[in-house]
This record gives sequence, structure tokens and C-alpha cells, in this order.
Amino acid sequence: MSAAVALDTLAVSQVAVRFGGLLAISEMTFDVPQGQIVSLIGPNGAGKTTAFNVITGFLRPSSGRVSYKGRDLTKLSTSEIALLGVVRTFQRTSIFNACTVFDSVVTALHLRGRAEVFGAIIRSASVVAEEHRLRAEAEDILHLVGLAHRLDEVAGTLSYGEQRLLALAMALAADPKILLLDEPAAGLNPSETQKFMELIRAIRDRGITVLLVEHDMHMVMSISDRIVVLNNGQMIAGGTPLEIQNHPDVIRAYLGEGLTNVKG
Ligand SMILES: Nc1ncnc2c1ncn2[C@@H]1O[C@H](COP(=O)(O)OP(=O)(O)OP(=O)(O)O)[C@@H](O)[C@H]1O
Ligand SMILES: [Mg+2]
Repeated sequence: MSAAVALDTLAVSQVAVRFGGLLAISEMTFDVPQGQIVSLIGPNGAGKTTAFNVITGFLRPSSGRVSYKGRDLTKLSTSEIALLGVVRTFQRTSIFNACTVFDSVVTALHLRGRAEVFGAIIRSASVVAEEHRLRAEAEDILHLVGLAHRLDEVAGTLSYGEQRLLALAMALAADPKILLLDEPAAGLNPSETQKFMELIRAIRDRGITVLLVEHDMHMVMSISDRIVVLNNGQMIAGGTPLEIQNHPDVIRAYLGEGLTNVKG
């Protein structure tokens, strides 16, 4: 890690991931500065989800390091990483189908802070007060994502777009400092996508750093402070949306998918 990288920056350095003979990621190096929306883009199979898996401890890299707050995340478990505030959502929605919307978020709040919750109970000597606090926090999160009117619905009966919002609410309940979103707008209609964009900005404005993987280039170009471009497991460019749109290597990597798409 270079001396210039602040302690609260997430820094991926020289990471490689091998699956048998396939080098899914090679020599991947990039930073996610605190307080920004950084997007990780690249064609299908470029290594974006694999990068998320490495950062959040679901996969050990073959080599390299991921540091955050002075810790090497590649040495920690998924739950230790989440407790440090590095929290993800999945490319496919994962929710508790049989739970209500409200209970899903309350459960996610409980999972986060077992120690914190018990500590608070001991301090206040009141389970009821602590339960009140958690319920208020769940309501606040559901209000933020726009599901406050769906509290009592069973999660499995929500529309697809609402299920994506619930998955996001559950990730927010884990109290992220950095939130990694894997294709949050996949399968959403244009108005849902627009709302999701505003929501991501609102999350950033609450002080949560966002690392976004997304194929919707209009969304990426509109909301990113910075973009990192992967191709064949390597970072080929990094910069502002304007720099990336005009970068010859990026244009070349995306030619197969249509450049007009990149320019939104
Ligand atoms: N568990 C695994 N075992 C073997 N190969 C894998 C595994 N996970 C990913 N790969 C391969 O690694 C490469 C990168 O995959 P990855 O899922 O990270 O791509 P991606 O950029 O997220 O693509 P997409 O945009 O389609 O989601 C691909 O060639 C993929 O087939
Ligand atoms: Mg992926």
C-alpha cells in the first residue's frame, strides 16, 4: 500500500485469482476512496463479481492483498469483513422469502450487532428499549429505500424491483462503511432504475462509500465519481466518467457490445 492511500480507503493491490487453468483476475490494483461512488465496469466475464468475492472474503485470491483500515481483508472471514463495514449485495437477489419486509430488516439488524445489541441491553438493562431502537432503525432504512408502505408484506410476494430494494435494505442494516452493489439495476425497468440511481446517491450522501458493478452505462456515467474498467481480469483504465468515455482502450474493449451503449 502506498503512503498516499488513506487508512479508510479500500485498496486492492496486485490481486490474482486462478480457477484451475483460468486466470480470472490478474494483477488487479485499484483504490476506492472514502465517500465516493466508484463503479467497476467491464464486459461479461471480466472479473467484476470475482473481485467482489475477493474483497468480501467469499474467495481467497491466489496472490495479492486487499486492505481496509490497516487490515488485510484476505486474512479475515466474511463476517469479520462485514463487521469492519465492508458489506455487499449479490448479483442474484437473496432475501428471506417467508419473512415480512419489516422482520427481514430487523433480523439483519440483529445479525449485525449481536455483541453491540447485548452490550446495549446490559447498559440500559432494557430489552424493550433496545427492541424499540432496532424497530426505529428498521423503519428509517425502509423509508430510505422506499419500502415503508410495504412493511407487513411477505418478502416473497414483493415485485422483483421491490425484492432488489429489500436486499439493499438488508445490506444497509449491516451498517456498511463501504457498500458493494453487484448489478443492482439488472432487470429493473427505466423508472425503477432511475429511483435506484437516486437511492445510491442518497446512500453516498449519508457518508457510505459505494463500489458499484453495473452494466447500465447511463447509470454508471451519471452517478460515478470514478470508474475502474476491467477487461479479461485486468484493470485497463481508471478515471472520471468523461475520461473513461474517451479512453481508446475502453472503446476497444466495448466495441463488441456497442459503443453507443457506453456513451449512454
Ligand atoms: N467459481 C468459479 N469457478 C470457475 N470459474 C469461475 C468461477 N467464478 C467465475 N469464474 C470465471 O471467472 C471469470 C470472471 O467471472 P466473473 O463472474 O467475475 O465475471 P463478471 O465480470 O462478474 O461477469 P458478468 O458481467 O457476466 O457478471 C469468468 O471467465 C468466469 O467464468
Ligand atoms: Mg458478475
